[in-house]
Amino acid sequence: MDTSTNKTTGAAPIGIVGTGVMGASLARNLARNVDGEVAMYDLDQTKIDALLAAHGDEGLIGFSDLPDFVAALRTSPRVILLMVPAGGPVDAAIGSLTPLLGEGDIIIDGGNSHYPDTERRYASCAENGIRFIGMGVSGGEQGALLGPALMPGGDPSVWADIAPLLEPIAAKADDGAPCVTLCGSGASGHFTKMVHNGIEYADLQLIAEAYAVLRAGGRTGEQVGAIFGEWNDGEGRSYLLESAATVLAQTDPQTGGELIEKVLDQAKGKGTGAWTVIAAAEQGVSVSVIAEALFARSTSSAKDERAAWLGAADPVASAVDLDSGDVEQAYLAARLIAYQQGLSLLRVASDHFGWDIPLAEVVRIWRAGCIIRAGFLDDVAAVYAEHPDTASFLAVEPFRSALLDRYRPLGEVAAAAMRGGVPVPAHAAAFNHQTMLTSGSLPTALVQLLRDFFGSHTYERTDADGHFHIAWEDDRREIRS
Ligand code: 6PG
Repeated sequence: MDTSTNKTTGAAPIGIVGTGVMGASLARNLARNVDGEVAMYDLDQTKIDALLAAHGDEGLIGFSDLPDFVAALRTSPRVILLMVPAGGPVDAAIGSLTPLLGEGDIIIDGGNSHYPDTERRYASCAENGIRFIGMGVSGGEQGALLGPALMPGGDPSVWADIAPLLEPIAAKADDGAPCVTLCGSGASGHFTKMVHNGIEYADLQLIAEAYAVLRAGGRTGEQVGAIFGEWNDGEGRSYLLESAATVLAQTDPQTGGELIEKVLDQAKGKGTGAWTVIAAAEQGVSVSVIAEALFARSTSSAKDERAAWLGAADPVASAVDLDSGDVEQAYLAARLIAYQQGLSLLRVASDHFGWDIPLAEVVRIWRAGCIIRAGFLDDVAAVYAEHPDTASFLAVEPFRSALLDRYRPLGEVAAAAMRGGVPVPAHAAAFNHQTMLTSGSLPTALVQLLRDFFGSHTYERTDADGHFHIAWEDDRREIRS
């Protein structure tokens, strides 16, 4: 039975397809903040019934008949938010909705869709006169309910239509600004969310490595949690540091000991970290810290290979007695480098795809609601606002000096950890990345020459333009091509 029977139709400012945790939480947030009831659709009437039984008095109306659902929406334009699993379900929803929608109507995909899919859907919806928006939603269930960071991307004409719906429900930064902006055209929204997640991977791994180094100095998990709490009280303030302090203080409900001691050390992922690394490789941008974070999860989950080495040296038994202040400086430096790598990828991809991603705005909306929110992002946004074309916010003050001051502790902590048998691949990648950027000359000159030797790939010279090749098998003369 359609539960909408006694409701006014044609008045809902937005409809949501999908009644899972994220869809329901966003719906309740919308219903609190926008004018009019929020229409919900699910093919499964029992899910609609369950949702309305729990939250029907919060301004939601529900349908399991798609034409009825669409008819319940306010027109010009209709706005429909898809909160269904990425992949086939998004295509299926678009396919069913398209014949029911009109010119200029808007479909927003709020899942973690892969950006090439979004690019494809953007084009195919445009052919049908539908304005398709790929939107990253960050902050989990609590964020969706109380204030997520929202990263929509698509046709610039759409912003005036969706801003009144999204701004009231988005998280608010300390200055009161809503954490939502149009991230650019095409698939820029989902690309931005993908990179957000890549940075999330990096920061999680960096925190885990700092934890390992501090534990190797003889501290308990609880003590390390307290140290993270202190870092979070200072300039390092971030949601993930705060979260690390919280989870490390958690006792095991079963044994009463530290919960962390009972948690399996094999981390998995749902794909966005891998997509970030693949996209970076395609764009020729180094996201080495993100890549090491991704592959640290892979190594941790390589059960058979790890088992094959059981009984060999136990690195965790090694002592690495480092000052927690140095570990903090190293972590903060590596974190800055990880964010820069992600933002470099956004900048290059934006140029490549012609998306016009406004980096200052993107960083501004990462200041609250999302998983990678952190105190220093205010200053990063200010750098991009003043220098929109900078290749690196880190090369601009105040970050330049902050990074250079922390460069030495980063190298020393990474080296000491590795000498002590504590793997710190993300810290080491960050240090190596920065060293390469600041080195006047790199051994990649030899890579070039070797490529020419075995494959005639040519090389460029420091003292002349053009491409050159040595006749290696002949008289070894230099040939300009
Ligand atoms: C967010 C998160 C969210 C989710 C990740 C987890 O911004 O709210 O990023 O999207 O936590 O997708 O990713 P993994 O399962 O791959 O770690």
